[in-house]
Amino acid sequence: MEEKIFRDYEAPDVSAAVKEHYRKMRKNQTLDYVKRMHKKYLTYDTPMDLWEAMRHLNSLIDVSDPDINLPNIQHLIQSAEAIRADNRPDWMQLTGLIHDLGKVMFLKGSDEDGTSQAEQWGMVGDVFIVGCKLPDSCVYPEFNALNEDMQNEKYNTPTGIYEAGCGIDNVDLAWGHDEYLYQVLNNHKTNSLPEEAMVMIRYHSFYPWHSGGAYKEIVNEKDAKYLEIIKDFNKYDLYTKSQKVYDLDEVLDYYQPIAEKYLGTGPIYW
Ligand SMILES: [Fe+2]
Ligand SMILES: [Fe+2]
Repeated sequence: MEEKIFRDYEAPDVSAAVKEHYRKMRKNQTLDYVKRMHKKYLTYDTPMDLWEAMRHLNSLIDVSDPDINLPNIQHLIQSAEAIRADNRPDWMQLTGLIHDLGKVMFLKGSDEDGTSQAEQWGMVGDVFIVGCKLPDSCVYPEFNALNEDMQNEKYNTPTGIYEAGCGIDNVDLAWGHDEYLYQVLNNHKTNSLPEEAMVMIRYHSFYPWHSGGAYKEIVNEKDAKYLEIIKDFNKYDLYTKSQKVYDLDEVLDYYQPIAEKYLGTGPIYW
């Protein structure tokens, strides 16, 4: 069998919808937009059980993903099961299972914000730093010029509004499911996931940095450690995508005790 190539955005069968998604994302995700989304979505006012949130991803297909067209919950179970099959730590298995759960944002979302089923440019896809120059390592770099921040001389330099070497924990990334879940779990009182797990959740979509090698002027020593964590996790996020279909109820008995160990038993506030 021919080896499958992942993330081939120029492949003939990659739909025009993927490219159009990235055009809108690059155009609309400005620093101002990101600040507005933080205010709007980081409210932690909606209690919802972890498993209920998982089930909501049964009705969401990620339009930005050229590699899989199954509901997102399938990708989550596939990732977790691959991590489990490699005998990796239980917290990492759980991280695989929940890493894309921030996509439940669509429950509160709107077309206008790009956070709905129909318009996902504020929710999924590779993210980049806002407030500094967009790097050529973004997918479809030809869309970088569409972002109005790139006309602003305060923003369109390698460090933009940031201090050199400030590190990626201290910048704003394009708004999406990574940052949303990270902040929700950060706010969750009974979260005891290790720092590595939180890094995997927060930066797994930050491809221009972790795979493109961009932002040399912004990263610091801590980020070199983060990079190893992300590279390790990325194998499971990317190369486990298949058409194999799971049933959440079949794996629940295994994952529920792990989830309770690291996240407690109460609801999560979204
Ligand atoms: Fe993701
Ligand atoms: Fe993922």
